[in-house]
Parts: sequence; C-alpha cells; structure tokens
Amino acid sequence: MKVLFVCLGNICRSPTAEAVLRNMAALRQLPIKIDSAGTAAYHIGKSPDSRSQQAALKRGISMEGLSARQAKPEDFYEFDYIFAMDESNYQNLMAIKPENPKAELSLFLSEFGTMGPSDVPDPYYGDGDGFELVLDLLEDACEQFLKSKVAP
Ligand code: 4NP
Repeated sequence: MKVLFVCLGNICRSPTAEAVLRNMAALRQLPIKIDSAGTAAYHIGKSPDSRSQQAALKRGISMEGLSARQAKPEDFYEFDYIFAMDESNYQNLMAIKPENPKAELSLFLSEFGTMGPSDVPDPYYGDGDGFELVLDLLEDACEQFLKSKVAP
C-alpha cells in the first residue's frame, strides 16, 4: 500500500504526517510506503521546518532526511491513498487529478480524525502550540487509518 500526504508547502504538516505514520508502521512492522508533497512549489528541496522537527523529536519521531517536493498528476497513478491536510489542499489536488486515477483522494481528518476539526490548521505563521496541535491531530488520525485500512 502506498500513501501520500499533501499540504501547501510540504515543510510542516504533510512531512509530519509522513513521519508519524512511518514511525507507527515501523513499530508494527506494517508494509506501507509513505511519502508527502506540497501543492505549492515555494519550498522544493528544503528540509522540514525546524519547529516541526523539534516538536516531532520530543515525541520520539524523526523527520530527518525528508525533502520537500511538489505534488503532480502522476501521483494519482502511483499511490493508493492521497490525503489532503486541509480543504484548500484538497481543492488544489482536485484541480490536477487526472482521468482514471488509482488513488483515492480525501480530506484526511474528515475521513479518520476523531478530535473534531476536518482541517489540520497551518502552523507556519503561528506560535509553537500550533505544531503540537498538528502532531495531536495527525497521531489520532493515523492511528484510525491503520485500524480501519491496514491492521484492524
Ligand atoms: P505546510 O505549511 O503547508 O504545512 O508545509 C506552510 C509552509 C510554508 C508556507 C505556508 C504553509 N508558506 O507560505 O511559505
């Protein structure tokens, strides 16, 4: 199974989702391939935001080695699931979705989150608490995703 997480810049939310799910899958020895991308091109080639990296590391999750890339139409043929972090990312992905995609596109928290919000709020311009909330929301939804689609 191949899963792609997508946000705007691919330096905060989607690489955090990638690292969180990769960590959970590794601990449980689940064979999932996980990647992330941004709808925008601003940060191509950059490492995740240092605030995201620090917040994740405090929970024992490494984001080392990740590098930002832009989402592309071909991703819809490569992946089984593409998860948008917010409604605007979802709309931008709908705009590049090709005919006959393999991937199922959805808004990640609407599908799997149990904490309330349907969007993962963009933490980029906010304070440090935003990065903790991103992790809380993503850990919850990744747990539900694994339970419902991978290892009940
Ligand atoms: P992300 O956060 O979409 O979670 O990676 C952002 C990163 C950068 C910008 C916006 C959001 N930016 O405007 O540069």
